[in-house]
Amino acid sequence: MTTPLDAGGGPAAALLAAHNELERQGSPDAMGHWMRVNCLIHPDDDIFAFFANHALAKNPVREYLADGWRTLSELMVLLEGIDRPLLRMGRVLEFGAGFGRFTRHLARVLPGRLTASDVLPGTPEFLRDTFGVKAFASARDPAGLRLPETYDLVFVLSVFTHLPMHQWTPWLRALEGALAPGGLLVFTVHNEAFSRDLGVQFDADGTKFLTSSESPSVDGEVYGTTLTTRAWVEAEVVRALGRPARAYAERAFWHGQDAVVIERPA
Ligand SMILES: C[S@@+](CC[C@H](N)C(=O)[O-])C[C@H]1O[C@@H](n2cnc3c(N)ncnc32)[C@H](O)[C@@H]1O
Repeated sequence: MTTPLDAGGGPAAALLAAHNELERQGSPDAMGHWMRVNCLIHPDDDIFAFFANHALAKNPVREYLADGWRTLSELMVLLEGIDRPLLRMGRVLEFGAGFGRFTRHLARVLPGRLTASDVLPGTPEFLRDTFGVKAFASARDPAGLRLPETYDLVFVLSVFTHLPMHQWTPWLRALEGALAPGGLLVFTVHNEAFSRDLGVQFDADGTKFLTSSESPSVDGEVYGTTLTTRAWVEAEVVRALGRPARAYAERAFWHGQDAVVIERPA
């Protein structure tokens, strides 16, 4: 089977294997030595393949690992801005964690308090064994989601940006159901102006679903690229949960994702 890394021409796969070997040996030249997080990268990680195949890639291992630092700082800035600092959170769930691009950084600042989940085979085991977090397998259908606990923060980075619109209401309800009283659900969506700048023309309802994504291995009808206007997102939150979001921060993550913050009443 051809993997996204092979599609990059092969050198990235060899680079990753060499990187992982240095990490396993605990070499002083290993990235984990100076980053002070576990820097193993799973060979099936589509996010790493995205970095490796990127037109601007120079050092994909470093770019992938440093991008997690960026996510940490963006999440902290967002939560500081609404006076709910990350480090004061009790139990935290990172939902849609993949193979742990961000999990490794979050695990260091939330020792013993982090759970991670994804639907891809092998992710719970890798997240648990590599980063020492609690982990559980998610489900493609929210009706099948089994949550072990409730959380003070559920963080969902770039998952709704891939879900078909008809799945938003059930997923918003399922993830809101994961919150402890007073807890926050933070999820991201594509920024409207960012999408328009890429030439996207929204349908009349303010959405556009494309059946392709960074994960060629997953069916595009199930996991594509979801583009939405801010008005549609805000109305969808009200339709799903019966109340508006507590906060909406434009371009809070990367260069083109907005953050939506839902608060469960105390
Ligand atoms: C763009 S990736 C982002 C990964 C991670 N949040 C990060 O920032 O590196 C989206 C992730 O959502 C996951 N995902 C998609 N549907 C899911 C579901 N039903 N339950 C849990 N995770 C899901 C995918 O498997 C993928 O790992």
